[in-house]
Amino acid sequence: MSRHPSVTVRAAAKVNLELVVGPRDETTGYHELATVFQAVSLYDDVTLVPADSYSLTVTGRGAADVPTDERNLAWRAAARVAQLDSGGGPVGISITKDIPVAGGMAGGSADAAAALVGADALWGTRLDRSTLHGLAADLGADVPFCVLGGTAVGTGRGDELVPAMARGVYHWVFALSDQGLSTPAVFAELDRLRAERGETVAAPQVSQDLMAALLAGDAPAVGRAMRNDLQEAALSLQPGLAETLDIGRECGALGGIVSGSGPTVAFLAESTEQALDVAVALTASGVASDVRRATGPVAGARIVHPGKEQ
Ligand code: C5P
Repeated sequence: MSRHPSVTVRAAAKVNLELVVGPRDETTGYHELATVFQAVSLYDDVTLVPADSYSLTVTGRGAADVPTDERNLAWRAAARVAQLDSGGGPVGISITKDIPVAGGMAGGSADAAAALVGADALWGTRLDRSTLHGLAADLGADVPFCVLGGTAVGTGRGDELVPAMARGVYHWVFALSDQGLSTPAVFAELDRLRAERGETVAAPQVSQDLMAALLAGDAPAVGRAMRNDLQEAALSLQPGLAETLDIGRECGALGGIVSGSGPTVAFLAESTEQALDVAVALTASGVASDVRRATGPVAGARIVHPGKEQ
């Protein structure tokens, strides 16, 4: 039995400062990506307690839309650790959500990352970095970044990570939409739009302008370099997002893009004050179902309550 009666792990949301989508791999169905992730200060807390059988409860924002069975990535993550030779057993999982659900901010992936780190601590499996990374990548392309946090370049499916040199604090405003977008549907829409244009898709690369801007801590240059290839597909499926983008830009945001596969729209502001202005304008316009502010980069999944040793 574990020495810890419970473990709580906090995991952050992510935004993609750049998301370049390459060709689709016909065997796996995944697209080759080059992306720059940043972890931002919207958090889910995941608590794991040893139990006779698996269970999962979800509270907080958007809880009603989150599956509470083995479809939940956090459940699968805990079960994967338990299946290891050195692993433990079933757990009761409780998730307190603050990351927008189905919003393109890796909420489900953050919960999976937290559950991996939590199960490892709970059972004392002491997973080495490459085993943890392998389990994370198996669960989903964004899960390894949610373990790592900070600012990082992702290649492959987005799961091959290299930490990026980034100076400064970035002020974010997120405009949420009450209709979710399914990630596979957005990738499929991009494929459809590209096929319609007869586009040849090149191998993806992150832009040197963005990397230089991050290194210099030059937020206006980061704003100018922000790019998301999935944006046109997200806009095609949810045309109303164009108005959201316009409102943020009119308020002087340094940059605005759809976050990941959307429908959340992310704006970079130059200061806390400007972030407040953008947030107020978005709220007043009524285009968004909710508006959230955050800063980045922040840490990846980390234990906030290790429990008391028994
Ligand atoms: O890995 P994850 O389950 O988060 O991915 C969800 C879906 O997003 C995949 O099934 C795939 O349709 C799409 N995807 C992709 N290429 C990637 C990452 C995700 O096509 N690199």
